[in-house]
Amino acid sequence: MAVADRERWDSRHAVAGAGVAAPPDALRGREDLLPTGGRALDVACGRGTVAAWLAGRGFTVDAVDVSPVALASGAALEPRVRWVLADLDAGLPAACAGPYDVVVCQRFRDPRLYPALAAVLAPGGLLVLTVLSEVDDEPGAFRAVPGELAAAFSDLETVVHDEGNGTATLIASRGPGVAPGSPPGPPDPS
Ligand SMILES: C[S@@+](CC[C@H](N)C(=O)[O-])C[C@H]1O[C@@H](n2cnc3c(N)ncnc32)[C@H](O)[C@@H]1O
Repeated sequence: MAVADRERWDSRHAVAGAGVAAPPDALRGREDLLPTGGRALDVACGRGTVAAWLAGRGFTVDAVDVSPVALASGAALEPRVRWVLADLDAGLPAACAGPYDVVVCQRFRDPRLYPALAAVLAPGGLLVLTVLSEVDDEPGAFRAVPGELAAAFSDLETVVHDEGNGTATLIASRGPGVAPGSPPGPPDPS
């Protein structure tokens, strides 16, 4: 990311001030889908409201963002999270190799990261994504095309897939015992 872009994010986070712990939008009213504990990753975590909420639910959380201002705000909110400063243009940082029982990425879209997000998801793990979408909205470089999330994560089991009003949401799970990149199992004889 260009320095000017990072500085723009820093300014936005500085103006926004401290956040409040909150579940990912996609899990509101669906908190029962969350695994009972383990490791969680929040990708492009911003001021860390979701990461803090996950820590409050007992997860050991790694949270990544390019903005030191955002991470400082997150650290003030929840010191138990491991706040990782990294530019996701270079992929997921080595410090976030997983496996994770929950991977959240909310309001940040980079299709180049999709394989890495799937790869760090543990067997039985839950992926929770919300991105801007072209569905019911304008086309744009930061918006998912129709069906993008479902296609990118077709190896996972879809739990929720919604597109509309300019937003796309995917909640998907990796079956227990299914390692990332495993070929599909034999057909069910029944
Ligand atoms: C719209 S905010 C979403 C923040 C948070 N996920 C939420 O839902 O509140 C997008 C975040 O992505 C971060 N970001 C943008 N480009 C990034 C990059 N290349 N690497 C890491 N973080 C990036 C920004 O600093 C910002 O915190």
